[in-house]
Amino acid sequence: MSRPGQPAPISSALHGDEGSPVKLHGWVHRTRKTGGLVFIVLRDSSGLMQCTLNKKRLTPEEMDSADKALLESSVELEGTLKKDDRAPGGVEVQVAKFKVVNFADRFPITEQQSEEFLLDNRHLWIRSQKLTAILKVRHTVFGAIHEYFRREGFYEFQSPILTPTAAEGGSTVFNVDYFGKKAFLAQTWQLYAEAAIFALERIYTIAPSFRAEKSSTSRHLTEYWHAEMEVAWGGLDDIAKHAEGAVSHIARSVLEKNLDDVKALGQDPRKLEAIAPPFPRLKYAEALDLLKKQGMEVAWGKDLRTIEEREIAKNFDRPVIVTHYPKEIMAFYKPADPASPKEALCMDMLSPIGTEIVGGSVRSLDVEDMRKRLEAEGESMENYEWYFDLRKYGSVPHAGFGMGVERMVQWLLNLENIKDAIPFPRTMERVRP
Ligand code: 4AD
Ligand code: MG
Repeated sequence: MSRPGQPAPISSALHGDEGSPVKLHGWVHRTRKTGGLVFIVLRDSSGLMQCTLNKKRLTPEEMDSADKALLESSVELEGTLKKDDRAPGGVEVQVAKFKVVNFADRFPITEQQSEEFLLDNRHLWIRSQKLTAILKVRHTVFGAIHEYFRREGFYEFQSPILTPTAAEGGSTVFNVDYFGKKAFLAQTWQLYAEAAIFALERIYTIAPSFRAEKSSTSRHLTEYWHAEMEVAWGGLDDIAKHAEGAVSHIARSVLEKNLDDVKALGQDPRKLEAIAPPFPRLKYAEALDLLKKQGMEVAWGKDLRTIEEREIAKNFDRPVIVTHYPKEIMAFYKPADPASPKEALCMDMLSPIGTEIVGGSVRSLDVEDMRKRLEAEGESMENYEWYFDLRKYGSVPHAGFGMGVERMVQWLLNLENIKDAIPFPRTMERVRP
């Protein structure tokens, strides 16, 4: 809320009483001129307000500056509220005082523009109605993740971004020249989280992760925000429950706090209402059976491709948890299921649009097995000795998962491309602006 004499947010002015005085500041979203009138639709972070400037109430200088103020000029004004059914929120301001803070140059973004042009001008496009709505939902998603884990008794813990190892495989790691030595940008917090559970037991984070993915798809970023959790004394069922709980809490929060944004972005709120526990669970082997019934044959041992994930997900109105992938094709730290050694104790959560939104697993305690795997991948063991230490000093069963925050936002808002789920996307082709 605003202090007396200070400009009010448009959203609160829209609810003011007829005839009450208002002071606003913001940007020119649209203008229209007829006779002695200038209509300015003013935009601020909270909404849009029609403001009417009448030459009978303003000085010639004020009318002249309103006339010259192009789109996106920043302005301050004062006036009184008047009901008007033709105005966007049913109310308008009859302006009594008007000042341009900065006359904008001709704004380069007009109506019909290519995705590439909008990405090149991201620094300007970010103020669009579309991106503003997405950024507000993103804000809610981040808040909901913190709420969920803190409510569940997790500590927030931070891991380093500069690391000596590639936890998720060498092919997608960014190299950094670290004073003449080799270092990497973190793909995950996981190895450090596994150290920290011995202090804090239940931990989570939201941090940037980096993947040098040579895939330009609608769901890959090279820099993304990663919500991760790790629990001591926990197994596959515990992390599956938390993944389900966190995702459901995020969806509920977005419905509660951003219904207007969800609708403005063209997403059907009923899609979000459906997201509640329990989520369906399938083993990888069962997923293959399902695919076969749907006419897609996948040999046991092959990782699921996007089209197959989409085919599985389309059977459900909420995310589906697929567990027990073949151990052979999984990261080195995913252990075998003692009851079925060819299967790993791991899970992926697939959204109804077929994207992997969560990946997690139990953590292997078998140092020899991990050593073999890493050696086969050409990793240098000295970098992992500290990690193996964790299995020596009071080792406990533990598990964790990572959630791609942009994958969540993309799915919740049904965005065509993940690039719109992050303010300044980094992809294979783009590191600017
Ligand atoms: O499945 P991933 O690779 O798992 C891990 O990194 C584990 N160490 C996490 C853990 O157990 N703590 O990544 C986790 C999630 C994926 O499910 C996906 O949602 C997201 O991170 N993700 C990406 N999001 C956007 N762009 C990319 N290139 C992504 N790669 C992974
Ligand atoms: Mg994964």
